Amino acid sequence: PAELARRCRALIRDIPDFPKPGIVFRDITPLLGSGPVFGEVVDALAAICRRAGWRPDAVVCPEARGFLFGAPLAYRLGVGLVPVRKPDKLPHETRRIEYQLEYGSDAVEIHADALTPGRSVVLVDDLIATGGTLGACATLLTEHGVEVLGALCLVELDGLGGRGRLAPVPLHSIVHYP
Ligand code: PRP
Ligand code: HPA
Repeated sequence: PAELARRCRALIRDIPDFPKPGIVFRDITPLLGSGPVFGEVVDALAAICRRAGWRPDAVVCPEARGFLFGAPLAYRLGVGLVPVRKPDKLPHETRRIEYQLEYGSDAVEIHADALTPGRSVVLVDDLIATGGTLGACATLLTEHGVEVLGALCLVELDGLGGRGRLAPVPLHSIVHYP
């Protein structure tokens, strides 16, 4: 795992002042472009589920970068995928949750009939920063009676406290930045 984290870190590039001045954007596209490392990351996420004893009925992942990890993970676990999307993208009846950003608010939606109460899921995304996105996903699911077994990320920005915002849902991340 420490060895995989090291190989991931070597393929995550820092982009200063993107998308705004003062932000150092952790760009995972070089990692996605590496067949071996991308594959090992997906295998590692599946192994974390197995070790934690999580047996989800589905993988839930937020648009857009969450889809990149959610789809191969769902395939690997042999379960379905439920997309969480930005407002007005999903065509059927949805449930929506608004959440606070550093300045202002955003919202995400899920199809109302995608998961019935009593189902259990794992959440997956490429990266957790403030935890606003995954925290909103967890709340949206929990309020509907869906059990969130845990959350998985490739990258965690430790200093932004996302893990705390997601609690009590356990979070496992492969690579950490301060
Ligand atoms: C990014 C990232 C996470 C979220 C993390 O997505 O992929 O979903 O932000 O930040 P948070 O922990 O502070 O919520 P973004 O909203 O940029 O959308 P995208 O994946 O469509 O680019
Ligand atoms: N990198 C990539 N995606 C992000 C970041 C970041 O630093 N912060 C929020 N989403």
